Amino acid sequence: MSTLPPERPPSPAPEAYRLRQVAESFGSDAARYDRTRPAYPDALIDRIIAASPGRDILDAGCGTGIEARQFQAAGCTVLGVEPDARMAEFARSTGVEAEVATFETWDPAGRTFAAVVAGTAWHWVDPVAGAAKAACVLRPGGLLAPFHHVFESPPEVTSAAAEAYRRVAPDSPFNFGAQPGRPAIELYQGLFDKIASGIREAGEFGEPARWRFDWERTYSRAEWLDQLPTLGALTQLPPDKLAQVLDAAGAAIDRMGGSFTMPYATVAVTAVRN
Ligand SMILES: C[S@@+](CC[C@H](N)C(=O)[O-])C[C@H]1O[C@@H](n2cnc3c(N)ncnc32)[C@H](O)[C@@H]1O
Repeated sequence: MSTLPPERPPSPAPEAYRLRQVAESFGSDAARYDRTRPAYPDALIDRIIAASPGRDILDAGCGTGIEARQFQAAGCTVLGVEPDARMAEFARSTGVEAEVATFETWDPAGRTFAAVVAGTAWHWVDPVAGAAKAACVLRPGGLLAPFHHVFESPPEVTSAAAEAYRRVAPDSPFNFGAQPGRPAIELYQGLFDKIASGIREAGEFGEPARWRFDWERTYSRAEWLDQLPTLGALTQLPPDKLAQVLDAAGAAIDRMGGSFTMPYATVAVTAVRN
């Protein structure tokens, strides 16, 4: 099997969406997921709303409802579709309506939307079947906007965690720090290309565009070690093995003075329904 960067989607292995056990593992600790995963830039949310012909949004892979709540706060109505019942239940508990299904197999029952969005979830969706499903539910002029956070912890932290991960999970298809020295944004280009070609292949959209929003966040040791277990590569590690990865990452952060600043780029691949 090809190796995948930790949560990083599948630019090197665009078939990652077939790894269903990982794809639907995030609900193993939904509360931690919701507490620690970063929200999306307001400028992205505003731009999607401005480019959509209405305020009714379908959120594919809504998870615990992080971006859904942002769209709600901006005045939208949002329906989430989420295959992991534990994530969907958490989303509902925060006021987000969510139906349990993969996006590809979900039954829209005749409903249509002004926009279909997906926050760091489209890499778990079949890119052609997903775009075709989006075309079915979007009204003419509607916007398809899957977006992803692109990020990487400092090389010292990544390589310490990678070394421990290789030791505790030698057979994993995921591989921390698989391509040291290559900026994360480059590793994601394959994913963004795959998303765009899935949209073209679905045949119902104008030419895809890319929107990029750069920002950063400073993490204390405790904050990063709280978020790290939510990465797809780690959700299924037994506690003793997970602890070894966290200890290694924590020691590296200690050597850096106890905190670090993470650069993020949030990138959307957008296309308008004909
Ligand atoms: C990394 S999480 C992102 C959750 C949320 N959108 C966010 O940004 O916080 C990916 C989500 O995609 C969901 N997912 C996996 N396969 C999917 C599919 N085929 N269709 C829809 N969602 C899927 C997972 O269950 C998980 O909740």
